[in-house]
Amino acid sequence: MNKKNQKLVVANWKMNPPASKEALKTFKDFKKEFNKIARSKKREARSVITVICPPIQYIKELKKAYTGQKIFFGAQDVFYEKEGEYTGQISTEMIKDAGARFVIIGHSEKRKLGETNEIVSKKVLASLKAGLHTVLCVGEKERDHEGNYLKELIKEIKESLQDVPANLLKNLIVAYEPIWAVGEGSKSMNSEEMHFMSLFIKKQLIKIYNHSVANKIYVLYGGSVNSDNVSEFISSEGVDGVLVGRASLNPFEFAKIVSETSKANN
Ligand code: PGA
Repeated sequence: MNKKNQKLVVANWKMNPPASKEALKTFKDFKKEFNKIARSKKREARSVITVICPPIQYIKELKKAYTGQKIFFGAQDVFYEKEGEYTGQISTEMIKDAGARFVIIGHSEKRKLGETNEIVSKKVLASLKAGLHTVLCVGEKERDHEGNYLKELIKEIKESLQDVPANLLKNLIVAYEPIWAVGEGSKSMNSEEMHFMSLFIKKQLIKIYNHSVANKIYVLYGGSVNSDNVSEFISSEGVDGVLVGRASLNPFEFAKIVSETSKANN
């Protein structure tokens, strides 16, 4: 992946849809619609890397339906041990075997269920070691006028990367998802704020590691992204892509999001 000429759009399907038949339909409709828009507007599909993270058991089937345009698959979580007595967990090798090359780690919905920075860091380490492109999610719960949310964010970034050495960062992606902007009933932040936040996150990464590695890390925005607001984020300096929840389950809307992203990159 090369930040200079490729933006990243990651779809997080969460625990949806309920059956593989619908997953396949959503995927096929998305591809069809995207190709239609790309053809009619002469957009450069190669300027975007699209990653679909469905429930892991759908990946093999979706992969079979995949031809042409570059689409990758990702898992929504991983466990840090390789194998053994860990009921319900999924290893990096299982993710690769399913056909995925990406994984989301530390999503706020996992953190809400008790995932700590310490666990997140172990997962990030295992995932990067296994060569998976690793989307680490960070983001404050709420904003305050005193700026305490920035301290919260610094702590989360530092601790979520506490086990991770600089030489493994090549495949790290940081998704900034302020929790107040994620999910039903929330509204996205604006692009100026995101510009500030992406620089702030970059600064923390430089502090923890160094300039040259930090500069290569993709920084994504996530939280109520849709086809109307995506261009704003994508054109904001320092934002290398988006992480999309709800809107990625609507194939027509998601096709527009990917297409808007490719347009902004030309
Ligand atoms: P949303 O979710 O786009 O539905 O706000 C984003 C996410 O949870 O990654």
